[in-house]
Amino acid sequence: MPIIICPNCKSLLHQVEKTLRCQNGHSFDFSKEGYVNLLLANQKKTNNPGDNKKMLNAREAFLSTGHYNFLFENIESTINSFDLFSKANGENIHLLDLGCGTGFYTRNLFKQNSLKKIGIDISKIGIAKASVKDKDSTYIVGSAFNLPIEDNSIDLLINIFAPIHLEELKRVIKPGGYFVKVIPTGDHMKEVAELVYEEFIPHQSSIKEEIESDSMFQICKVKNLKKTIFLSEQDILNFISMTPYLYKFKEEQLEVLKELSVTISFEIIFSKYG
Ligand SMILES: C[S@@+](CC[C@H](N)C(=O)[O-])C[C@H]1O[C@@H](n2cnc3c(N)ncnc32)[C@H](O)[C@@H]1O
Ligand SMILES: [Zn+2]
Repeated sequence: MPIIICPNCKSLLHQVEKTLRCQNGHSFDFSKEGYVNLLLANQKKTNNPGDNKKMLNAREAFLSTGHYNFLFENIESTINSFDLFSKANGENIHLLDLGCGTGFYTRNLFKQNSLKKIGIDISKIGIAKASVKDKDSTYIVGSAFNLPIEDNSIDLLINIFAPIHLEELKRVIKPGGYFVKVIPTGDHMKEVAELVYEEFIPHQSSIKEEIESDSMFQICKVKNLKKTIFLSEQDILNFISMTPYLYKFKEEQLEVLKELSVTISFEIIFSKYG
């Protein structure tokens, strides 16, 4: 584990059997599911931060339908057109999926390349689910605001619908590395929002402007993906339950939803660091 650092003293962690240890005597055991928890008690505001079990179960079930597969397919094909794999052999390339949830994208991205993949999320439940399904990647409970990752060590940082802290990201990404940010745009989930709000307010994010205005990043490509998907009764329930929209619905409103066509609209921002 040469690039994972101790959350207490920031020195490198080394694996000794089923434990990660630093030179100052701090140690962290791998769980029975296979992940390691590097989130210190003083780094969390609640006992179980991040997405809850209901949201994560719904996300896992919804993603398994394949409706969002085109997202990781698009990320892969664009990254393959860059110089990442020509510069180094795959085994030396570190991918960090930050805010990886249940690890759907971590395990599905670059299955053919032997990258070293790390998934980090603040939700222990999400990380436990991810590590049960994927024994090839390393899963860590940690926060985007205080990453247990060594400086200048990540070649490819993926961040899909999850919080990011640009300064912390800049600390861990290698000069010449790539940052891929995915955000919902415009009328994403418009038809769901219209069921609970009188007026639809389009999704907005300032992250592209933040990246653009940072001289350390160069935007290489922006992809806008949009399509309408048709959802059956069970898909609708999962689709809504994996987002905070769930808490806007009354139970009787959900019960009558038997089918729905929904707009999904994403922006993928590819940038190079350094
Ligand atoms: C909308 S989900 C997306 C999960 C995953 N990327 C996906 O698309 O399936 C947002 C994720 O961000 C995580 N998260 C929230 N705050 C975080 C933080 N400070 N550090 C790391 N992860 C965080 C949540 O626990 C949740 O799993
Ligand atoms: Zn330490």
